[in-house]
Formats: sequence, structure tokens, C-alpha cells
Amino acid sequence: MKPKIAFLKEEEIPRQWYNVQADMPTPMQPPLNPATGEPIGPDALAPVFPMNLIEQEVSTERWIDIPEEVLEKLLIWRPTPLIRAYGLERHLQTPAKIYYKNESVSPAGSHKPNTAIAQVYYNKVFGIKRMTTETGAGQWGSALSFACSLFGMPLKVYMVRISFDQKPYRKFLMNSWGGECVPSPSPDTNFGRKVLAEMPDTPGSLGIAISEAIEDAVTSENTRYSLGSVLNHVLMHQTIVGLEAQKQLQMFGDYPDIVIGCVGGGSNFAGLSFPFIRDKIYGKEVKVLAIEPTACPTMTRGPFLYDFGDTAATTPLLPMYTLGHTFIPAPVHAGGLRYHGCAPLVSQLVLDNLIEPRAYTQLQTYEAGVTFARTEGIVPAPETNHAIAAAIDEAKKAKEEGRQKTILFNLSGHGLLDLSGYDSYFSGKLAEYSLPEEEIQNALTVLAPYPKPKTK
Ligand SMILES: Cc1ncc(COP(=O)(O)O)c(C=O)c1O
Repeated sequence: MKPKIAFLKEEEIPRQWYNVQADMPTPMQPPLNPATGEPIGPDALAPVFPMNLIEQEVSTERWIDIPEEVLEKLLIWRPTPLIRAYGLERHLQTPAKIYYKNESVSPAGSHKPNTAIAQVYYNKVFGIKRMTTETGAGQWGSALSFACSLFGMPLKVYMVRISFDQKPYRKFLMNSWGGECVPSPSPDTNFGRKVLAEMPDTPGSLGIAISEAIEDAVTSENTRYSLGSVLNHVLMHQTIVGLEAQKQLQMFGDYPDIVIGCVGGGSNFAGLSFPFIRDKIYGKEVKVLAIEPTACPTMTRGPFLYDFGDTAATTPLLPMYTLGHTFIPAPVHAGGLRYHGCAPLVSQLVLDNLIEPRAYTQLQTYEAGVTFARTEGIVPAPETNHAIAAAIDEAKKAKEEGRQKTILFNLSGHGLLDLSGYDSYFSGKLAEYSLPEEEIQNALTVLAPYPKPKTK
């Protein structure tokens, strides 16, 4: 029998996170104070995040120890399996070998608890008594609710309205773990009330929800905000995924030619790919593909600029590929990919040609997800379908070229609570949406007054 799954033993779980900042050919450009255009120091972030996480955010140490208490909680579902997709390979009649890292086995159903556990731990150690966050598809809100429940930490989640309506079961899941969940924009914050007054029927956006969650944190006592993606420390917590995958591929005696992940803010993609990008920086040949929706084409059509992380422009300016912080993406089902920007770390690596971005349409991605479900059994999250669409394309290309490529992608989550999107797909209600160039250019005009990052 040919090996199908590589399991690591409990004691083989990585003990350190990998920080790509130690190896990047171009050092990161600093976040800026929008009022002065000057770099901000760690103190400016203190009302929003606990200092121990801010220290991680700015660290350039290559390896950072994972605390024992975090490892103990991660062991609830980690190490996760690495699986060879024989069924999909046979269906495609490809000579390519396709592997996927199954992050859908966490209690919340995605990769998100990898950082949620770590963040709640550091908040608790710092003496924080309550946390707030936003959620798009509901995956992050559930992950943080799960993590908060393990540490006895109260949590309020601002959930993007369109997903709140499309995915009620996510809210029930958050409630089961003790998290409070409200639709965003909400009447609970100044910013939410302002948006509701101007656009009562808005589907909401991650940018708006982030603004609400930050406002709540900085105006409430002993409360901090937690972000499920984008920031350096969040991406670093996810590298346990790629570090495990490297060990598991060795068990198969393999190394990938192509590594693929979908990108919303960039965390699952970074988690899988950064350890391989390290190899690439030191000379290995590996193609790294970052996949986004054509409805929110941040990396493929947005410029690299300084922009705010949220719609209300409350965060520092971050250097990233962006469609402008006021851009509200079309309400596609991959809610977790509806973000105007992209992690600064991923952005800089795209700029340095270490990562190749690509965009797929909603219909292309559902077709890929259904093919995967019917050949490998797991019904993927709509976000994950983007990575699968690219993996299938690469496997088809290998067939055309008659080459035995090794493809690795991140199965970032399952879609069992996202079935309404599949229903729309099967009933022919899913429309393609092409984003007019004019809309992008209009959204970017708000960024004209701000400093520009170096692009060389
Ligand atoms: C299953 C899944 N994959 C991917 C994403 C995109 O986020 P990120 O780019 O941070 O991995 C999300 C976000 O909610 C998600 O739920």
C-alpha cells in the first residue's frame, strides 16, 4: 500500500515559530504615524495590543520559542495530517503529486486557532481581562471564541454583516464557546453608528469591522484587540503549519516544486509557505503561489502603497498591496478573502518576486472545491477553494508538460458551515463579478496624501 497520510508524533510538534523577517532580502519598511509620516514606535500600539505581542511584532529573531502552555492547547488537534491527494491526482490523470496540509481538523475548522491560542495566552499573561475582534466568514471569530474559552477570557466579535446573514451557524458556534457576536456595522460603536447612518444597507467589510473592534478595545477598560491575520506576529504563529509540513514531506521523501495558499490577509498562506520561502532565499527552487479572488484582487491589481489596515483609518499606515481602505469588495462567498489589503510581510515578498500572486473567479473556485470534495471527501471552505483551483491548474499543466511536479497546498478550512455558498453554486445563482478598473482607481484616490513606500 502506498503511504497516504504522514502523521507526526506529539513529541515531534515544532517547538519554535519561524520569523521570516530574519531572512528577508529587503528589510520591512516601518509602520508610519499618519499624522506625521514618521515611523511609529511600539508604544503607539500599546492601547490596542499587549506589549508582549508588540515585541513579537517587531522582532527580527529567526526562531521564537512556543510557550509550553500554548503547545499544550495546540496539542488538542496538532500536529495536523499531511495527506497525498491520490483521488484528485487520478481524477486529473496528472503525473503530479498533490499533497495538502489539513488545517480543517481544528475544533473551529480552520488554521485560525494556531494564532488564536497564542494571542489569548499572551493577553492573559499580560493581565488583560477582555478581548475584542472582527470576523469575516466567521472562522476567525469562532477560532478566537474557542481559544478564549480555554483561557477563561471574555470576547466580543464584530462580524461582517453579509457573513452574519449568510452564515448563522458560525454565530451559534461562537456562542457555544462563550463569545458574544454582533453584526458589523453595529449600533454599539461610534464608527458603526456613523456607517449605518450613511449606508443602512451596507454588506459591511472586514475594514469596517476592524474599526469597530479597535474602537471598543481602546475605549473599554483592560481590553485589547486581536487580529486574525495581516500582522507579523499572526503570520509567525501560523508557521507551525509549514514547519510540520516540511517534516512530513520528508517522511514521504519529497520536497515541493510548488507551494500554494489562498490569501485574505495572508496568514494561512504565510504559515505554510514562509519556511519554504526561507529555503528559496537560500537557493532552493520552489514556486510559491498566493491566490486571491478576482472580486478583491489586492496583489494582482492593487499598487504597493502605505495604507490603513481598517476603513476608519485608525491603524498606523502599513506598507502593503492594497485596493484602498475604503474599498468594499463585492459580497462573494469567500468572506475571509474580502480584505482591501494584504499582510505587509507577504506584500514585501511579492514585491521581491519571491511570491507569485494569482486571482481566480468565484465560479472557478467552487468548481475546484466540488472536484476536491468528490475525489478526496472533504468539503473545503470557499476561501480554501482558491488554493485548490490553483493546485488543479498546476497539476493540469504538469500533465500537459509531461512532468512529475510535487504540489503542496494548504487546506485552510472545511466548508461545513459555508454550505449556503455551495447551494448558490449548485442552483446556478452564483454570478461572476468583474471589478472595473475605474472602481479601483477611485478607491485609491484617498491615499494620495500619504507617504509612499520604497518599491526598489
Ligand atoms: C478557511 C479560511 N481560509 C483562509 C482565510 C483567509 O485568511 P488568511 O489569509 O489570513 O489565511 C480565512 C479567513 O477567514 C478562512 O476562514
